[in-house]
Amino acid sequence: MIVDSDTTWHFACKLNQLPLGGMKHVRVFDTEVLLVRASKEDIVAMEPWCPHNWAPLVDGKFNPGSMKLTCCEHGMQIDIKDGEITRGPNGGPAGHYEKCFRFPVKVERDRIYVHLKTPQEVDAYYAQCGVPGILGSDALK
Ligand code: FES
Repeated sequence: MIVDSDTTWHFACKLNQLPLGGMKHVRVFDTEVLLVRASKEDIVAMEPWCPHNWAPLVDGKFNPGSMKLTCCEHGMQIDIKDGEITRGPNGGPAGHYEKCFRFPVKVERDRIYVHLKTPQEVDAYYAQCGVPGILGSDALK
């Protein structure tokens, strides 16, 4: 499969629709994405569902000072800088949860664009975690 990298950037929303310190759940082409604006220039695009029990992360609390997002359901904490889980549900260990998937993001002319992963990139990510991806088990070989 040949992928033109220019075609994988998709418009997500206008910059003024994402306030400082705010979060917004958007649908980008065929993918659900959570946008988080930590500062004027610092915008993160990531998977919008909690890795514990799939609660919508947009309903959680984001602390721009610590860059941590806390899930509204059981308090799992995610460092949005790298997607690492820093606290498990109900204050438990974070150890066995996979990192939250992050997407490259860019701002051009006051518009936010997200680079959606190709199926190969998604499989490579899941292979790192030791689980099958969307293309099947070839990525694990
Ligand atoms: S669903 Fe997020 S911590 Fe349980």
